[in-house]
Amino acid sequence: MKTIFSGIQPSGTVTLGNYIGAMKQFVELQNDYNCYFCIVDQHAITVYQDPQQLRKAIRNLAALYVAIGLDPKKVTLFIQSEVPAHAQLGWMMQCVSYIGELERMTQFKDKSTGKEAVSAGLLTYPPLMAADILLYKTDVVPVGEDQKQHLELTRDLAERFNKKYREVFTVPEVKIAEVGARIMSLADPTKKMSKSDANQKAFLSLLDDPKVMEKKIKSAVTDSEGIVKYDKENKPGVSNLLSIYSILGEVTIKDLEEKYEGVGYGQFKQDLADVVVDFFTPIQERYNELVNSDELDRILDEGAEKANKMAMKTLKKVENAMGLGRKRR
Ligand code: AQP
Repeated sequence: MKTIFSGIQPSGTVTLGNYIGAMKQFVELQNDYNCYFCIVDQHAITVYQDPQQLRKAIRNLAALYVAIGLDPKKVTLFIQSEVPAHAQLGWMMQCVSYIGELERMTQFKDKSTGKEAVSAGLLTYPPLMAADILLYKTDVVPVGEDQKQHLELTRDLAERFNKKYREVFTVPEVKIAEVGARIMSLADPTKKMSKSDANQKAFLSLLDDPKVMEKKIKSAVTDSEGIVKYDKENKPGVSNLLSIYSILGEVTIKDLEEKYEGVGYGQFKQDLADVVVDFFTPIQERYNELVNSDELDRILDEGAEKANKMAMKTLKKVENAMGLGRKRR
């Protein structure tokens, strides 16, 4: 079986964007791949996180991973900081990265522009992400479109290392969802939906109360044309809502355009809100059963144990290739 690795930051509560762009694929892939899914808490602290909120977000994310349908018997689910090899290999990957290439990363530019103080971690986030992936001999990384550039860098770093030292790393392929790879903000459909957006109306959280979900969808920014038609360039708001509807409701965009021909945005948004609420209600119910359970701790303990074993093997190989430490007799 080929291996998959993917991670999500506990930098807020998982959004509809994270779900459609990444997590939905995880569920579909778990039967065909050896899967590692990670809560990348060390990535989250590249920008300040309130410690209590972070702890809460880590647990929420773990419970959500299971609630969406990942089977802990099939997949390895773990917290990044509980597997120290991530930070260790992250350092080594920093040492094969160039500052110039890190400064060119779009996410770094987006998150650092206009900030008075920018953490060094924000710049060195991609080598840590490379380490996350490379530790597990990952073949495929399912992510949303925004992570494509980081994945390309991971591939470059793996190839550079293999050439400079010796063939240690598997060079991973990126897997982007065919539809929904970039779900846009509900408040500004020209911007990506993000869980850390300061505007609560911009994102739909998987744990939002159904009434809140409905309200956010009804107030989503569209246009004044009143025509339900997919046109990403000229109608980004409506197109974004159509994508969400199509994916969660399992209907084609063409069928939706026909269904809502001559019908205003009001009915379209109400129906979409119903689809979203119906989709996430059972997930929220399962989440509530899990979030404070011992079962969740057992899943995470087992996940950390399995991940640590695999990660240490790779770490040793890298240390040997680089000549770090002593040669064991
Ligand atoms: N809007 C999106 N549409 C589709 N996919 C998305 N992803 C994120 N936003 C969208 C995908 O979700 C996975 C987890 O992302 P992450 O938590 O590691 O970091 P991110 O990409 O920076 O996500 P956010 O929500 O925007 O987090 P913050 O606000 O903390 O930066 C990834 O596979 C990502 O592609």
